[in-house]
Amino acid sequence: MPDPNPKPVRYLSGVQSNGRLHLGNYFGAIRNHILLQDQGECFYFIANYHSITTLQDAEQLRRYTFMAAADYLALGLDPAKALLFRQSDVPEVTELAWLLSTVTGMGLMERAHSYKDKVAKGLAPSLGLFYYPALMAADILIYQSDKVPVGQDQIQHIEMCRDMAGYFNNTFKKEVFKLPEGILSETPKVMGLTGGKMSKSDEASVIPIFGEPAEIKKKIMNIVTDSKGVSEPKDPDQNVIYLLYKLVAKPEEAVQMEKGFRQGGMGYGDAKKLLLAKLEEVFGSETRERRKKMDEKPDLVEDVLLTAARQARKAAAPTMALVYEAAGLPVSKIKREISSI
Ligand code: TRP
Repeated sequence: MPDPNPKPVRYLSGVQSNGRLHLGNYFGAIRNHILLQDQGECFYFIANYHSITTLQDAEQLRRYTFMAAADYLALGLDPAKALLFRQSDVPEVTELAWLLSTVTGMGLMERAHSYKDKVAKGLAPSLGLFYYPALMAADILIYQSDKVPVGQDQIQHIEMCRDMAGYFNNTFKKEVFKLPEGILSETPKVMGLTGGKMSKSDEASVIPIFGEPAEIKKKIMNIVTDSKGVSEPKDPDQNVIYLLYKLVAKPEEAVQMEKGFRQGGMGYGDAKKLLLAKLEEVFGSETRERRKKMDEKPDLVEDVLLTAARQARKAAAPTMALVYEAAGLPVSKIKREISSI
């Protein structure tokens, strides 16, 4: 017999606040996060501890953290349905990350693509950057999450998280952690304006979701194309104008652009104008108005974040109790006194 009261699926995800959120974040993850708020228990947070591995400027970190929260709310995250909080408001995640690090081999950490890519791009190889996947594993495991909706680039981190959960359970001979599963959106990888993946680390590659209209126009009009004339046939498959259009337009509109490119008749200039108009339709007027309201009422955003953090912290407490017990750490009186202040 099916369970009459099945436990809701717990979804968890985080987004870094080290720059403006862009269309790659939106189509890779955020849109999916918002859709899932009607399907289970959602825990979403702004990963400010993670962001500090690459953004070490207090004013900017605060600003981007606020902006990420305001963006989510303007894009449709409903605080009555999903939790949206700041990672650092649940400081126990850093404690758990430490404990996970003690059961995790260097070999596993050294295989992380994301770390290697960041160092290859010129970031200083700090201990924090290397430790990043352990903190991410703690984020996921502390809430006993079932599913982790992310973009393609985070899948390996979730595999590492499952490994760490297993090491901990085996080492301490107790099923403390549930093994989570990564899930992808329908569009887990979005091409950027410079041909590679759209990524905050390459400002020229991104379209910020809430950029100024003039800035977005300039970015789109400046997309570099080959010199094929309007009537010449073109290949849409590697063409960022078409690929982005396909994400925002209706299917039949996308087919029309695709045909125009393949058969000839669609010029790059016209395609750029169509893309711009669609972006304005989807993220323009109404959404931008909602976003503006957040800037005018930062206290409301702060309220959402704090209310959610209280709930998240409560949800983390039973896991931490299991962890202390399994590892032989006391839940000291001092800790309890401090956390009730
Ligand atoms: N590393 C993720 C990213 O850059 C952000 C993140 C931090 C995260 N902790 C997480 C995502 C836990 C999912 C689950 O996109």
